[in-house]
Amino acid sequence: MSRPEPVTVRPAQPEDADSLAGLFGRLGYATTGPVVAAQFALYHPGASFHALAAEHHPADGAPRLVGAATVSIQQRLYAARPVAQLTALVTDAEARQLGVGRALVRAAAELARNARCERLFVRSDRRRTESHDFYRMLGFDEVNLTFDLPLDP
Ligand SMILES: CC(C)(COP(=O)(O)OP(=O)(O)OC[C@H]1O[C@@H](n2cnc3c(N)ncnc32)[C@H](O)[C@@H]1OP(=O)(O)O)[C@@H](O)C(=O)NCCC(=O)NCCS
Repeated sequence: MSRPEPVTVRPAQPEDADSLAGLFGRLGYATTGPVVAAQFALYHPGASFHALAAEHHPADGAPRLVGAATVSIQQRLYAARPVAQLTALVTDAEARQLGVGRALVRAAAELARNARCERLFVRSDRRRTESHDFYRMLGFDEVNLTFDLPLDP
């Protein structure tokens, strides 16, 4: 009998809200379980919004949710095929270097391909230098400058 995969990726569920809030908090996006649950209710994951959860399966314990990614599929009027944006990616600090991030990016690319996207892209804060090497390592090219205009609510 073959050993189970140590890391699996599945669609995130509203029941994951507390764990996801913890992960997003570690990414620097302070939030709460109820806020994440409310977002699930507003933006049903489906055609243009996807949320992925990664579970690590240790040989000697129960699976644990250790990573998350969200993906947004964007249509453009000027191109027949959409593009996909990785809008969040995080691996729990204790589960880094186990292949969680790679598995999440692979799953994000797969769902982008299934949505006929011509590419998957990510905006990464200039200060997150450790993630830049990670993306280069996975084959992402540095292409665009991005500009942010803060907006009042
Ligand atoms: C970036 C991040 C998601 C990587 O997750 P991870 O689960 O540790 O990555 P993996 O274990 O899947 O690593 C995949 C490959 O990238 C390499 N890698 C991982 N982190 C790296 C880093 N900081 N620099 C260079 N390479 C890195 C791994 O060694 C591995 O290569 P290998 O397969 O040849 O061994 C994780 O460090 C993280 O959550 N950082 C904080 C949040 C963040 O910056 N998110 C990105 C927002 S844009």
